[in-house]
Amino acid sequence: MMKEIRILDKNFREMITEREIMKRVEELAAEMNRELKGKDVVFLGILNGAFLFAADIFRKLEIPARISFVKLASYEGTKSSGSIKELIGWNEDISNKTVVVIEDIVDTGHTLDRIMAELTMRKAAEIRIATAFYKPDAYKGKVKLDYVGFEIPNEFVVGYGLDYDGFGRNLPSIYTLIS
Ligand code: IMP
Repeated sequence: MMKEIRILDKNFREMITEREIMKRVEELAAEMNRELKGKDVVFLGILNGAFLFAADIFRKLEIPARISFVKLASYEGTKSSGSIKELIGWNEDISNKTVVVIEDIVDTGHTLDRIMAELTMRKAAEIRIATAFYKPDAYKGKVKLDYVGFEIPNEFVVGYGLDYDGFGRNLPSIYTLIS
């Protein structure tokens, strides 16, 4: 049976179930446990969207690891040329550490580019990217994604941390926009 839900003025249909997500999270965490063993690792969750994925991955880790969160904040520049995004909330020294970025979704890849620039500037020894969802048809970046939960079509989705106008983050499955 197709599960459909309504958020504000839009209708969505279930695309990836909670069960499928949980199974995939376990597989990714198992890969991380194998590949990151012995490294000095800091996980870096990108707020707001990645909070559920980060928590689910993190509790399945069996290696010594720390986690910290940063947020991309838009603010108006002093020039009228539009807004720029700043990564705020740093409280971790990442120099010479392996940083595993935890993203909710990689769409165009602009956010990721911004994060990569910052991590490079802060002298991370190694950077790995984990994302719950990835839209290959929308991606314009060059950064390689190391841990991808699900490749999805270029459609708007909500649930599992992702929102539509602030709502839908609490849904345990992923839903795609139908109308
Ligand atoms: P990018 O910079 O285009 O890769 O977009 C990344 C950010 O846009 C994500 O971290 C999400 O917050 C948001 N985003 C992209 N696609 C979706 C979607 O389908 N649903 C909800 N948010 C999305």
